[in-house]
Amino acid sequence: MRWTYFIVLQLILVLVVAGLVYKHQDKATIIKIPPKELAQWYKPENKRQVWLHNMFKLRREMQAVQFYADNKDHKSLKKWAVLLNEHYLKIGEMVPNWNKKLDLAILSDIQTSVVNQDYTGVLTAANTLQKNCDSCHIDYQAITALTYRTADFSKVETKPSVPFNSHMQTLSEQVNMIKIASEDGMPNLAISSLTDLKQGMNELGEVCSNCHKKDRKFYPSESMNKTLLSLEQNLKTGTIKEQGMDLGTLAVEACARCHGTHRLTFGAKTLLSKEPSLAELLKH
Ligand code: HEC
Ligand code: HEC
Ligand code: HEC
Repeated sequence: MRWTYFIVLQLILVLVVAGLVYKHQDKATIIKIPPKELAQWYKPENKRQVWLHNMFKLRREMQAVQFYADNKDHKSLKKWAVLLNEHYLKIGEMVPNWNKKLDLAILSDIQTSVVNQDYTGVLTAANTLQKNCDSCHIDYQAITALTYRTADFSKVETKPSVPFNSHMQTLSEQVNMIKIASEDGMPNLAISSLTDLKQGMNELGEVCSNCHKKDRKFYPSESMNKTLLSLEQNLKTGTIKEQGMDLGTLAVEACARCHGTHRLTFGAKTLLSKEPSLAELLKH
């Protein structure tokens, strides 16, 4: 009798949990986090993007193996199959946690088929191996690139002890002050706010070279400078409409384009690397 109670209770508990999970499925998503050991194969812990380059090698080797199997060229096939073997195994050497994700049986099928000059066998096995590559990529490719290769602005400062984020808020206030002053007929305030904005943009431009060392970025760019000039003229003598047009162009050139690259990816990275608190987990 007591056992039936116990089992019924357990069943109710399972149902409640299942119900809660089902109810929340459209409010949260589950993302698999790649093992932390990956960090040592990326900058800045490593001098090179070792992990990514091993992947590029694998893709090339898969292509070469298929190409030479198709052409029944035993010698070249052997050369590339050895490399494929080496770099596929390197996945597990670099991240031991991921050894269990490797399909070693199919890897040795490829090698055996190569030795036996069974070209159809090679092609079939390579197809199966590709499925193994794909299955890891579906879970981990995007999140790994976001975690280890996306520019991190959390420690960037535009001036000593001015965090990047605060500088952004200042820029936004300057842009909006110009707009408000333009619409409400306060040309002097509009022009002095534009001067502040130019200063703020110049300060922002100083930080690009923190990371863009070889591919220098000019901020403000030549076309931003043209728009700034036209805006200044129009704030003095133009119509509100012309002022609005210039300000809109400037916002796209000087703010939105960079946000499309940097704010989007940094935002996603921050979201994904957020350690959820116990309270948040329970809430979900
Ligand atoms: C256990 C997981 C895993 C396996 C197995 C794996 N990869 Fe990858 N691969 C990754 C991760 C993680 C990335 C993302 C790296 C990055 O973007 O920095 C990646 C990225 C790549 C990329 C770069 C994609 C791009 O265009 O940016 C290529 C190419 C690639 N893998 C090829 C292969 C091939 C070919 C195989 C199979 C022979 C393979 N990978 C097996 C984890 C894996
Ligand atoms: C914290 C490092 C960092 C800072 C600071 C930084 N960038 Fe980048 N930027 C990168 C990286 C890394 C990439 C490559 C794309 C990626 O992974 O996000 C990139 C890509 C870009 C791209 C797109 C690719 C290209 O080369 O055209 C643009 C445009 C860009 N940055 C502009 C800027 C401007 C303008 C500034 C300064 C106002 C700036 N970045 C500051 C790291 C940085
Ligand atoms: C380097 C490229 C870059 C340029 C150029 C840029 N931003 Fe940003 N902006 C970012 C990044 C990255 C973030 C996210 C920062 C964060 O979350 O800490 C951001 C965030 C913001 C935010 C949100 C701040 C907050 O409190 O979360 C505002 C507002 C903003 N930017 C306004 C602007 C304006 C206005 C301009 C143009 C005058 C501009 N940004 C130009 C990269 C840029």
